[in-house]
Amino acid sequence: MPGFEFWGDEERKEVNDVLETGILMRYGFDGARKGQWKALELEQAICNTFGSKYAQLTSSGTAALTTAMAALNIGAGDEVIMPTFTFVASFEAVISVGAIPVLVDVDETLTLNPEAVKAAITPKTRCIMPVHMCGSMADMDALKAICEAHDLILLEDACQSIGGTYKGKMLGTIGHAGTFSFDFVKTITCGEGGVVMTNSEEVYSKCDGYTDHGHDHKGADRGADLHPFIGYNFRISELHAAVGLAQIRKLDTFLSIQRKNQAALKHILSQVPEITFRKVPDPAGDSCSFLSWFLPTADLTNAVVEEMRQQGILAGSFYWFKNNWHYITRWDHLKNAVTLNGQSKEVTTALKDYASKVFEPSDAVMSRCVSTAVSLLWTPEQIQDKGEKMVAAIRKVLSSTHELVA
Ligand SMILES: Cc1ncc(COP(=O)(O)O)c(C=O)c1O
Repeated sequence: MPGFEFWGDEERKEVNDVLETGILMRYGFDGARKGQWKALELEQAICNTFGSKYAQLTSSGTAALTTAMAALNIGAGDEVIMPTFTFVASFEAVISVGAIPVLVDVDETLTLNPEAVKAAITPKTRCIMPVHMCGSMADMDALKAICEAHDLILLEDACQSIGGTYKGKMLGTIGHAGTFSFDFVKTITCGEGGVVMTNSEEVYSKCDGYTDHGHDHKGADRGADLHPFIGYNFRISELHAAVGLAQIRKLDTFLSIQRKNQAALKHILSQVPEITFRKVPDPAGDSCSFLSWFLPTADLTNAVVEEMRQQGILAGSFYWFKNNWHYITRWDHLKNAVTLNGQSKEVTTALKDYASKVFEPSDAVMSRCVSTAVSLLWTPEQIQDKGEKMVAAIRKVLSSTHELVA
């Protein structure tokens, strides 16, 4: 998700605008900032680009998720249904508001299996949080229907899917709220940053206050602001917002290159009949930041990953099943409820339960899946070379196993 690959004069210009004024904070200093309001401008650009009514920038995607949950009144004792495959930030945010992450199986969409979601609903369930992993999306119609039937909040963790769409709507704008991350390796980067998008004025106004110590932002004098509730400091700086402003203007370029490069690599891998590809509920909406592919068995996938590693061609391809950050099998800190400060008994007990839980359907998917990150900088020759080397490594493993079986 390589916004950083297209760093250039546009980003430098926006950052320099801020450096010229020396006002690095997004609020106040009205005279000294000489008309520069980068965070405000970026929020407006986000609303225009993604079609959400409101956008609240934050200091990170993790802060955006935490803010969204607080603003949606998700808190102590509430259960949030989320997938076994995601980045650790998704459950960190749930725990940070005192709620309980309820992990459920993923299917070949690489995110929530709607049937598993239904089976996990209890009287304490308050929110369903699909994570649109690796540039593509969850089955949003199915999840929305479940939310409507059970009166649940739908919160999209769209941190990894900036620019993806589902049936014409931008990912992150379909649920009650949605979040993006603008960290250094996302499709649009601010260096660090994030956003909550929502169509609810009430939710937005809560996000606005929550990210700035509960300030009501009603008047021009910051010192005279009221604090209708307790908030935190999850503010983005003007410098970070300035980078994002230059990046968001390049989004269409990023997406069209990603789509072209992903299609080219997919075409080459399609030569191998044993390879299948991730299920994409709305193929036209894939942001194509990754190409996720499957082999028929876990053993074959393991062997191919090892072969690619040995040949020095694994860089940029991720075997999430064995990755510390993304899949439940490696989340020992979560499963042992290791936190620095005390948590409620409910949260600790729920987390420790994961130590003995198995997620066979998720394992069956994730143990066969490799995701190859799509670069904006690849030339057609490099894609051809990369694809051919991958195909050769995969064929080598397949033929050796065929020989073993014969
Ligand atoms: C799915 C997902 N959610 C949340 C986050 C958190 O974003 P950040 O790194 O900006 O805190 C990430 C970051 O990688 C992510 O991939």
